[in-house]
Amino acid sequence: MAGNSFGEAFRITTFGESHGDGVGVVIDGCPPRIGLSPNDFMRDMLRRRPGSSGFDSPRKEEDRVEILSGVFEGLTTGAPITLFIRNRDADSKPYEILRRLFRPGHGDYTHFKKYGHFDFRGGGRYSARETAARVAAGVVAGKILGPLGIRVVAYTLELGGIKAEKNDLEFIEKNPLYCPDPMVTEQMEQAISRARREGDSLGGIAEVFVTGCPAGLGEPVFDKLDADLAKAVMSIGTVKGVEMGAGLAAARLKGSENNDALTPEGFSSNQAGGILAGISNGDEIVLRAAMKPIPSISQEQHTIDRQGRPGRLRFNGRFDVSAIPRVIPVLEAMVKIVLADHCLRSRMIT
Ligand SMILES: Cc1cc2nc3c(=O)[nH]c(=O)nc-3n(C[C@H](O)[C@H](O)[C@H](O)COP(=O)(O)O)c2cc1C
Repeated sequence: MAGNSFGEAFRITTFGESHGDGVGVVIDGCPPRIGLSPNDFMRDMLRRRPGSSGFDSPRKEEDRVEILSGVFEGLTTGAPITLFIRNRDADSKPYEILRRLFRPGHGDYTHFKKYGHFDFRGGGRYSARETAARVAAGVVAGKILGPLGIRVVAYTLELGGIKAEKNDLEFIEKNPLYCPDPMVTEQMEQAISRARREGDSLGGIAEVFVTGCPAGLGEPVFDKLDADLAKAVMSIGTVKGVEMGAGLAAARLKGSENNDALTPEGFSSNQAGGILAGISNGDEIVLRAAMKPIPSISQEQHTIDRQGRPGRLRFNGRFDVSAIPRVIPVLEAMVKIVLADHCLRSRMIT
């Protein structure tokens, strides 16, 4: 199974399965002399772990990060950093039915087609459990970005068709859905509760906002900053669309409306989302990700078994109703990883 690594100068390789001993990440290329302790991971791991918001899977995981290598006397040494997160509450029993029947909308069918067998207990590598390793790597990336004044924040713009109209960034951390609009959070919470009662799931849209990013990150051809960000974000399960700045709406604008005028004080608007020709322009980076509804639902669905015979699946495992809110720290992490990689490639930090 190829493709477990991402990045060039700051390169992460994740490993582990949802129902194995645990998941983890090896980070190659992290500069030396950065302070790193297990406590540094707690905030972001708590935000991602299941069972903390009341709107997600009841699986209870501590998600404590063990540092297995690359740190001595509290400082990174420059050697590969290995981070490990043990699985404590994996319950494979509800997944027994998936030994036989494929979950519609999930990776079971494609994994079976590609590999001839797959870890049906929670999905193994294609489980969202793998994103715990990404969040841990994102914390290390954040340590590179922090001193450069680069800050990454993600929040919920839409959930189950309910849109945030206000963008009160102060309010994001004050509600479990990371919604910036106090007027709609309750509606969003009710929509999740309703979908759960109906055995259904919901999709949503999140925005990632980067401040303090200097001009000059990104390479002009294949390693454009927006291309790398899109890959990073699209590699998260449920993400079906990524747009930068004006995004798809730019297709309906005229050049006179879409161009960001340059003034001695900076750009007069930010339709570009902070990136021009693949290189950051010094303005805020604005990226949106659209997430499909969680594929595991408890309503009965038509499917087939491994021999292609029709079947009906009623699946009662532990699952999230929506990728939001747990995807929020994962989005932040992947964006941080890309930015740290490009900072190192541009020799902004050595
Ligand atoms: C934070 C997060 C939590 C998720 N939780 C679940 C879940 O509880 N149950 C489930 O079936 N899928 C869950 N998913 C989605 C699947 O991992 C994903 O839909 C699946 O691997 C298929 O990939 P695709 O959506 O990219 O096609 C979650 C995804 C994320 C990012």
